Amino acid sequence: MEIHIRKSDLVSETSDVLVLSVYQEKQTFASSAAVEKLDARLGGLLTQIAKEESFVGKANQTMWARIPDQLASKRILLVGLGKKEECDLETIRLAAATVLNSMKQTTTQSVSCLLFGETSEVRERAHAMIEGVRLADYGFGRYKKQKKMHLKSFDLLLEDGRDLVAAKKGVEQAEQFAKGTLFVRDLVNTPGLHMAPQHLVDEANNIAKNNKQIKIKVYNEEKLAKMGAGGILGVSQGSDHPSFLVHMTYTPVTKSKKRIALVGKGVTFDSGGLSLKPSAYMATMKCDMAGAADVLGVFSVLSAIAPKVEVHGIFAAVENMPSGKAMRPGDIIEFMNKKTAEVLDTDAEGRLILADALVYATRQKPDAIIDLATLTGACVVALGEEITGVMSNTPALSNALLSAAASAGEKMWELPLEKNYRKQISGDFSDLKNIGPRYGGALTAGLFLEEFVDKTPWAHLDIAGPAFAERDYNAYEKKGATGHGVRTLLKYLLSF
Ligand code: BES
Ligand code: ZN
Ligand code: ZN
Repeated sequence: MEIHIRKSDLVSETSDVLVLSVYQEKQTFASSAAVEKLDARLGGLLTQIAKEESFVGKANQTMWARIPDQLASKRILLVGLGKKEECDLETIRLAAATVLNSMKQTTTQSVSCLLFGETSEVRERAHAMIEGVRLADYGFGRYKKQKKMHLKSFDLLLEDGRDLVAAKKGVEQAEQFAKGTLFVRDLVNTPGLHMAPQHLVDEANNIAKNNKQIKIKVYNEEKLAKMGAGGILGVSQGSDHPSFLVHMTYTPVTKSKKRIALVGKGVTFDSGGLSLKPSAYMATMKCDMAGAADVLGVFSVLSAIAPKVEVHGIFAAVENMPSGKAMRPGDIIEFMNKKTAEVLDTDAEGRLILADALVYATRQKPDAIIDLATLTGACVVALGEEITGVMSNTPALSNALLSAAASAGEKMWELPLEKNYRKQISGDFSDLKNIGPRYGGALTAGLFLEEFVDKTPWAHLDIAGPAFAERDYNAYEKKGATGHGVRTLLKYLLSF
């Protein structure tokens, strides 16, 4: 799908469908200025049809109208934005996604769509719309013989040519945000069969090869053994696939102010290990590398986005399998910083590989570390499927991330690192144990990770719920991988 942006008088548009947005007002159908103007030209025809169809402009409500002879476009699609005072960027993103979805059951090839909304900046509205369109257009087609039909072109229209520069900036940025997000979706949707740790390494190498500003180091098991990465090696022990620690570095063109480390959990399949998961829980565990995929997704567009900070992307790639070589419950392992943990449950493997990755990240002396991990079912119990849990040792960092998430349109909420729960993961025969009691499982997982960052400002994003949708979440996040996290990280990196 090609996306264009241009000034238009609407009446002479020749695309298959002309899309206009409408606010929901008290009682009657009332429309935004552009729709009113067009309606007047059509002698009130739109108002009349809207009444007949009881279309009032509720958020995501749509109405098709066919007005032959009077317009060059064959059809008009009106989409509701809800009440004007409640219409934010997410409303706009969702409405744009709804437009794209409405085209899916039709033979439409070209759509022209007037910029939605009025209340926020043109650049931000254009960004939100294009993000909604690109993310809604996604389908995971790798294993489908019958490929889906896609729109050929989506034209974003502006009534006022003076808005063109700002809108273009929004569109360009949205294209990168969407590209990074869709890259993650493809990786996460790929089944474990075709997504071994080596595949994540290949993707990282590929990104580095195509970007002069990105350098990469890959540590194999031999090197990891020398480094004392007992967490990564312990988890990967039961698998036939070797594990890796990957470290990418992005250096900005202009001298960097800050150094940020992103750390991802890359369990390419989480069977639980000897603490085997019941099959219903195991079925979606190809998603357990979503944190690492997020890091790759960010790096895939970093040069184009060009943040002013130095970014380190670090992830551990392993497969968690049961076998005669697998780690046993009760085994005690030693991490890169010499701390030890008793592995009481081999299914709590994410914190074990992240422990080593976080020690490695801390040694890069970053100003902040942000880790992303599909870490606990408990986080999904706490916040539901659509909200990421944020835990941090530095309030300024969690606040920055929460505000980046809010403006990126990703749902995140802070959970506490309760000091009084720390003793719940103290080991009997080792420094730590890898599980606490059933209650507060997301927090004890966070507290476990905190042991490996020293005093470095650090935030942990538990994306276990939002990373992979077991049902459709909304108009642009359908069943399957969502790529949740990428847009927030990009917003955050651009805030420097
Ligand atoms: N990968 C899972 C967490 C998960 C659950 C991700 C649901 C996505 C959706 C993780 O490795 C795990 O198994 N965690 C255990 C921890 C427990 C054994 C302390 C869990 O949440 O049950
Ligand atoms: Zn697990
Ligand atoms: Zn896991």
